[in-house]
Amino acid sequence: MNRPEAAPALASSAPATAPADLVRLRLATEPLTPDTTVLDVAQRFLEARHAGLLSLPVVDADARPLGVISRYELMSVFLQPFGRELFGRRPISALMNPDPLVLSLTTPIDEAARAIAAKIASPITDDFVLVDERGYAGTGLVLDVLRAVEDRLGERGRELERAYAHLKSSQLQLVQSEKMASLGQMVAGLVHEINTPLGYVRNNVEMTRAALGDAARLLAAQEALIGALTGTAEPGDDVEQLLAQVDERRTSIDAAALDDLGALLDDTLHGVGQIGDLVANLKDFSRLDQAGLQKADVNRLVESALKITQHIVRKRGITVVHEAGDVPPIDCAPAQINQVLLNLIGNAAQAIEHERGRIVVRTQALDQRVLIVVEDNGKGIAADVLPRIFDPFFTTKPVGQGTGMGLAISHQIVGAHGGAIRVASRPGAGTRFLVALPIEARGGTA
Ligand SMILES: Nc1ncnc2c1ncn2[C@@H]1O[C@H](COP(=O)(O)OP(=O)(O)OP(=O)(O)O)[C@@H](O)[C@H]1O
Ligand SMILES: [Mg+2]
Repeated sequence: MNRPEAAPALASSAPATAPADLVRLRLATEPLTPDTTVLDVAQRFLEARHAGLLSLPVVDADARPLGVISRYELMSVFLQPFGRELFGRRPISALMNPDPLVLSLTTPIDEAARAIAAKIASPITDDFVLVDERGYAGTGLVLDVLRAVEDRLGERGRELERAYAHLKSSQLQLVQSEKMASLGQMVAGLVHEINTPLGYVRNNVEMTRAALGDAARLLAAQEALIGALTGTAEPGDDVEQLLAQVDERRTSIDAAALDDLGALLDDTLHGVGQIGDLVANLKDFSRLDQAGLQKADVNRLVESALKITQHIVRKRGITVVHEAGDVPPIDCAPAQINQVLLNLIGNAAQAIEHERGRIVVRTQALDQRVLIVVEDNGKGIAADVLPRIFDPFFTTKPVGQGTGMGLAISHQIVGAHGGAIRVASRPGAGTRFLVALPIEARGGTA
């Protein structure tokens, strides 16, 4: 577009983040007086400095805007037969639009855009008049307002994009830290679980060593005695003395310990087996960061989550029942499903405050889905709390005990698997969570 020369401060040169007023869009256009003749006005329109203007402003002696005269209006007059002769000498006040859009210089861009949309007719034939406290202050172009609005929108869009990227990365960080939290929980659980069998394996091995030491010493004494009796012994070995030694070692030996040796070793093997199981579970969990889909047996995932939460559950004297249904393997990120189970079982255990605690984890196949139900007979969830439990950071637990991210992340994980998570609760009676996961993945996962 041709810019009027007398318009030094133009909108397009202003940064997109310019203050939201019309100062920067102002064109310093010299106004007409009401008695300027139509011919004079026509002449003005022809001047290069007015080339970009659709209309010229008309003000009174006190600089109050009286109206605008548009190029379009003038042209239609001159196109009439004898228009020039009839109107040329008349004052412009006879032809001007006496009700132009007048805006203050401090009007925010958005408001200006709204005022333009409400007042200026289409096709756009007028510019608008700008005023300050002293009266007429310049002319504004609709096109410049449009450009400024577009810049503003672009900037807002970029801000939104930045905010979205920021949110996304914080969300990833949260998922990661929740993963680390469940890793920490798991390690604590495993250390505890491994310590118990390790303790009695060590004890059994020590008892076995003591018993075998006694037996070996008896054997040595017996061999010496046999040597003396068969004449292969060193001279001076006194049969009498050797007999006494055998006798003494035989009585000092713990016969019961020797008899128990078999059971002791069975026990030890059992303990070692338990440690082996725990290590196998750890191996399942070591895929924690591997988010790729694979076929996994949900009952195994439940078993492994139960093993890891065993110490919390046992500490509270809670009975845990796994009603394993006949379910096909599902496409999932096992570590993520484990994370969900850990949180649901952990929440259930934490909700039980009485001695008859019971948690049931049930699996079942239904249509194309596998259902996992985690049910407790804990304190339940109040009706006003229920709608908020999946909200990030919502927790009713004391500071330091809950981050309030467990269910938010579980919800996200289940959603990313194309599944659903539902809750039903009766305050004072218990809570049931239902997780439904598709057997076959349709989309990707988180
Ligand atoms: N089985 C349940 N019984 C009673 N209340 C529950 C149960 N599960 C969840 N809630 C409620 O939902 C809230 C949110 O649970 P969520 O797992 O998201 O966070 P949290 O357990 O408080 O903290 P975090 O999981 O980070 O340790 C809990 O604070 C609790 O009030
Ligand atoms: Mg939780």
